[in-house]
Amino acid sequence: MTAAVRYELIKECTRTSARAGILHTPHGSFETPIFMPVGTQATVKTMTPEEVRELGAGIILSNTYHLYLRPGSDLVREAGGLHKFMNWSHGILTDSGGFQVFSLGPLRKITEEGVRFKSHIDGSEHFFTPEKSIQIQMDLGADIIMAFDECPPYPAEREYAQKSLEMTIRWAKRCRAAHTRKDQALFAITQGGMYADLRKESAARLVELDFPGYGIGGLSVGEPKPLMYEMLDATVPELPKNKARYLMGVGSPDCLWEGVERGVDMFDCVLPTRVARNGLAFTSHGKVVIRNAEHARDFERLDPECSCYTCRHYSRAYLRHLYKAEEILAYRLLTIHNLHMLLNLMRNIRQSILEDRFYEAKKAFFDKYGEERG
Ligand code: GUN
Ligand code: ZN
Repeated sequence: MTAAVRYELIKECTRTSARAGILHTPHGSFETPIFMPVGTQATVKTMTPEEVRELGAGIILSNTYHLYLRPGSDLVREAGGLHKFMNWSHGILTDSGGFQVFSLGPLRKITEEGVRFKSHIDGSEHFFTPEKSIQIQMDLGADIIMAFDECPPYPAEREYAQKSLEMTIRWAKRCRAAHTRKDQALFAITQGGMYADLRKESAARLVELDFPGYGIGGLSVGEPKPLMYEMLDATVPELPKNKARYLMGVGSPDCLWEGVERGVDMFDCVLPTRVARNGLAFTSHGKVVIRNAEHARDFERLDPECSCYTCRHYSRAYLRHLYKAEEILAYRLLTIHNLHMLLNLMRNIRQSILEDRFYEAKKAFFDKYGEERG
């Protein structure tokens, strides 16, 4: 039987660990490195699926935790699965709920069996186990599903990080035993806190279990960026070349370059869509806070080098006006731009790897973007 999801390595950078590949799934083949827009509630906020597709997205991310609580994974199954329910016929990856329930803080309690937590919506009590997370993700029917893991807080004591990574390995085994859908791939998640040797151990032991792909979890949780890059340097070399590597919850333009340089293939982040709704745009010359007064009479484009719908038709002054007036179109136009910017960035990064000029392309990007490098 052929695997549901397969990573095909196309080209490796000769100076860095960057690589270009193709991720084959039951809902299409996607060129990597790739950025996955986030559709937490089975929608990429403010966008129709056709718009998301036109911006160049191939695979999007959704969440076990949110869809289980509302509308309920049984309902999504009855609707024919998440692809049909939300009218998205391309790739979908669901996160396991591990990260979301741990983010609930005092509302949750972790044991070997699983995590008891209170809904952020109505306070009702629920219990997630690895088996339950997998059952929900089988009901949702994404192409790639994630193992139920524990993401230690930052900072975490070494002893906590060690115990946590051990439990995450036991949970990964339980997830695999519970997973029966042949048209989905179950990725494991490496952890290990901010300890390079624990990161290596977590990765090596999960690789022994031979999963079809690997998430890198527990990063971008408040640590300085150089520390995150160090953890990537420790983790990625342990992962097999013929499997996809997915850095979870990371997606600022600078981190995308740094992650790809270290051998990451897949990224997701709420950042571009969330900050758009707060009046912030990523442009080729850095961040632009459109709500600022300096843009009141600024009739230039948001980003003169961007070819997105927003930049082709509207001025900064108009975008600022819409934002100040709390018009829905403001959120839509800024979301279009930010998603276009990141998806286009990934296409450029990939092209630079194929033409073996990744390093030069990275330098050219940062010279213009002008933010701190890792
Ligand atoms: N999203 C961002 N980080 C993580 C993580 O460590 N685990 C999971 N499951 N999802 C994440
Ligand atoms: Zn634009």
